Amino acid sequence: MADMMWAGRFTKQIDDKVNDFNSSIKFDSRMYKSDIEGSIAHAAMLGECGIIEKSESEKIIEGLKGILADIESGKLGFDPAAEDIHMFNESELTKRLGATGKRLHTSRSRNDQVAVDIRLYLRDEVKQIRAYVVELIETIFAIAEKNFETVMPGYTHMQRAQPITFAHHVLAYAQMLLRDIGRLDDAAKRMNVNPLGSCALAGTTYPINRQLTTELLGFDEVMGNSLDGVSDRDFCIELASAISILMMHLSRFSEEIILWCSWEFKFVELDDAFATGSSIMPQKKNPDVTELIRGKTGRVYGDLNTLLTMMKGTPLAYNKDMQEDKEAIFDAVDTVKLCLRTFIPMLATMRVIPENMRAAAAKGFINATDCADYLVKKGMPFRDAYKATGTLVHICIEKGLTLETLPLGEYKAVCDTFDEDVYEAISLDTCVMQRKSEGGPAPEAVKAQLAKLKEKLSALV
Ligand code: ARG
Repeated sequence: MADMMWAGRFTKQIDDKVNDFNSSIKFDSRMYKSDIEGSIAHAAMLGECGIIEKSESEKIIEGLKGILADIESGKLGFDPAAEDIHMFNESELTKRLGATGKRLHTSRSRNDQVAVDIRLYLRDEVKQIRAYVVELIETIFAIAEKNFETVMPGYTHMQRAQPITFAHHVLAYAQMLLRDIGRLDDAAKRMNVNPLGSCALAGTTYPINRQLTTELLGFDEVMGNSLDGVSDRDFCIELASAISILMMHLSRFSEEIILWCSWEFKFVELDDAFATGSSIMPQKKNPDVTELIRGKTGRVYGDLNTLLTMMKGTPLAYNKDMQEDKEAIFDAVDTVKLCLRTFIPMLATMRVIPENMRAAAAKGFINATDCADYLVKKGMPFRDAYKATGTLVHICIEKGLTLETLPLGEYKAVCDTFDEDVYEAISLDTCVMQRKSEGGPAPEAVKAQLAKLKEKLSALV
């Protein structure tokens, strides 16, 4: 094996098992571009500040650009024996430039280098996740626009509760997703600070210019404390947390779609391209995509937990435990992107079956509150009206009737205030149309909600 970068202090070669154990190139090579970008900014700063010759800084920058081009064209592959992506890029540079390459790491440590790399890498990933969430919200808007009048039962405790519309139901998810964008933006904002120049932990005696690298790398500000600069992984945890909440929303939506696809509901039907069959049961059409999203949510929570637990006992500043941050946060990022890119077209092609939603809304006494409200509007206190309606529901259940089909005589026997107009008051359409309160399910209220959501979304994109 070749000499390690630190060979001078050691009298023995590293044990192969330790080398394998220690190495992170398998999972950090994906940060090659961020690593090179960070190094280019560092080299430019070293040249600018006279810490190395300007001509050498220029050569280093050219060399790094060459490495980037060769990696991207496939000409240069990662050496699995390299300890990590930072060592790989640096030794490749030295192979190409000789002594000049060796000057790049002046006044820098892998500790601040890796802290820069992850930030740059994740900053880009957040943009991609965010774009998917925007697309998902727009997909929901399109569904809502077609379903202002699609009456369905709203549930509490999974029991039919009060009538709503499908537009109203799906827009609840748009609201959640909009908050998810807010959380992603917050995470991106706090991530966008510059740790470069923290060096190993205690800054440096060289006259570096951290403001310059901050500008070159598009960070918002310099991290104010070098110990914090190399040992902060809050930004990974914060992003994993935002992603976990987003996954939780996708999972709840998925769970509902799974229920809606069942023969017991049949409120929707997935497009054949987004469902799977069974190896034995010819009749089956399974909502695997949504089940996988529900399953993968647990996996992302695991990533968040990994990060939180990894950090809770590490003294300042850098500890090798922190190398474990990458697999966890990369997994969370990869998983949520994978879920979103499949969920969006699945949702866009999902067929809504309004007749079945309406039929379900017609059962289960979901107009009972409206029946009580009918009496309240005629002057009865709500509690008395509630009790009278409860008695009517009981009678209906005994007789196998609904409130719509119960004869007026039965109504009057319970309470004389009832009249012919009760049937109009408890009709499904009336029940939905009258729920006009802000944020409610009446088509006009839902249209207002959608307009506000659109405004909020366009302010964000
Ligand atoms: N591969 C390491 C990581 O991901 C880079 C930092 C190494 N620093 C050190 N002091 N050994 O954390």
